[in-house]
Amino acid sequence: MAYNIAIDGPAGAGKSTIARAVAEKMNLIYVDTGAMYRAIALYLLREKTDLQDQEKIVEQCRKADVTIRYEGGVQVVYLNGENVNACLRTEEVGSTASVISPIPEVRKKLVELQRRLASGNDCIMDGRDIGTCVLPEAQTKIYLTASSSVRAKRRFEELSAKGERCDLEKIRADIEERDRRDMNRETSPLRRAEDAVLVDTSDMTIQEAVERIIAICSESSESR
Ligand code: DC
Repeated sequence: MAYNIAIDGPAGAGKSTIARAVAEKMNLIYVDTGAMYRAIALYLLREKTDLQDQEKIVEQCRKADVTIRYEGGVQVVYLNGENVNACLRTEEVGSTASVISPIPEVRKKLVELQRRLASGNDCIMDGRDIGTCVLPEAQTKIYLTASSSVRAKRRFEELSAKGERCDLEKIRADIEERDRRDMNRETSPLRRAEDAVLVDTSDMTIQEAVERIIAICSESSESR
């Protein structure tokens, strides 16, 4: 049976950076499920789909073939055969992913892909519903969070470092709005699984968070 670590938490808690580092140290594959929702969002944006029209979204979604490959240890997302990794990390794609991800047909398609990846590979998978829904049997579950002001500040610094002009208060409002959507939706809302260990990274460095998670993994394997 493959070894699976599930990491859930809100946007900007550091999940992807931390999960990638843990994957490298523990020799696991890193599965970024947000990128899959982003790939569907990208397809809908490119097709100029009306995001209010759920039926149309479901119809379009059937035409979006998302596949994942690992190239040099890096997850590469293919959308209808095109490597779209470089197009996924914009704010527009992220917020569209948050809007379309509650749709059950979208989730069903991607959850199947995620379970297939997890059953065939030792992996660390991050998202919103991994511990609660995608991999309820994962050997280790983490709920990674940080305060919204810390998350906004990190995002502000990241964008400023890239030379993008941005407004801290607006970023914070967007983060809180995204949390509200992800936590209050009907299908697979973001919440901590009962057996997930809470890690609050507000006052931690990335290195500290990585070490904490590796320690939690070894504790959970000792207790099995
Ligand atoms: O983690 P991220 O920012 O790349 O995710 C983008 C959006 O996708 C997020 O707002 C909610 C959605 N998502 C989801 O519903 N379930 C997941 N397992 C991962 C992401």
